[in-house]
Amino acid sequence: MIIAVDGPTASGKGTIAKALAAHFGLPHLDTGLLYRAVGRQVFLDGGDPDDGGDALAATSFPDSLLDDPQLRSEEVGGLASRVSIHPAVRQALYERQRSFATQEGGAVLDGRDIGTVIAPEAEAKLFVTASVEARAQRRFLEMRERGAGVTLLEIQDDLRRRDERDSKRAVAPLVPAADAMIIDTSALGRDEAIAAAIEAVTQAI
Ligand code: C5P
Repeated sequence: MIIAVDGPTASGKGTIAKALAAHFGLPHLDTGLLYRAVGRQVFLDGGDPDDGGDALAATSFPDSLLDDPQLRSEEVGGLASRVSIHPAVRQALYERQRSFATQEGGAVLDGRDIGTVIAPEAEAKLFVTASVEARAQRRFLEMRERGAGVTLLEIQDDLRRRDERDSKRAVAPLVPAADAMIIDTSALGRDEAIAAAIEAVTQAI
């Protein structure tokens, strides 16, 4: 069984995907981390995240980079969003995601194009979304806890920029699969959102 969880940044899709994996006893892959790792590695190598040539697509990173707490930062999120518009980068990360999705026993993947590109045959597809205001508020509280000095308005602007880039790119744009179930978490607490997702998946399978 493949469960695809797509949606914009800070919609709650990561939390939901983790909870679904625990509930259904499946392994989970946060595919955003792969794009973040490429973005971070390009930065460390002094490369250009906006040049979609062969060098960028060939960027390789050690698996240990996936555990780097720095990957979760807004800066790296911005770099990930820039490198991910290039088809060659998406292609380079395809196989790794595809084999995770098709492993025996099934898997949960979260990202932007799991239900549309990586695993269109997924038995359950969720598109998790929320208003920019709700997402910015969550991200703001999270970042304040980590001691980051950033304002709510800065976060809102950044989310809008990233949404626009992710939704308008030519390849694998952020759009719900035709058969995705939409979960709007704007007015839902964490546990309510998880319960709604488990219910939706249970009905789909
Ligand atoms: O989900 P997360 O915020 O970690 O993703 C970082 C960036 O990576 C996104 O803004 C998006 O541009 C890109 N991404 C993508 N496809 C995925 C996952 C992430 O393009 N499957």
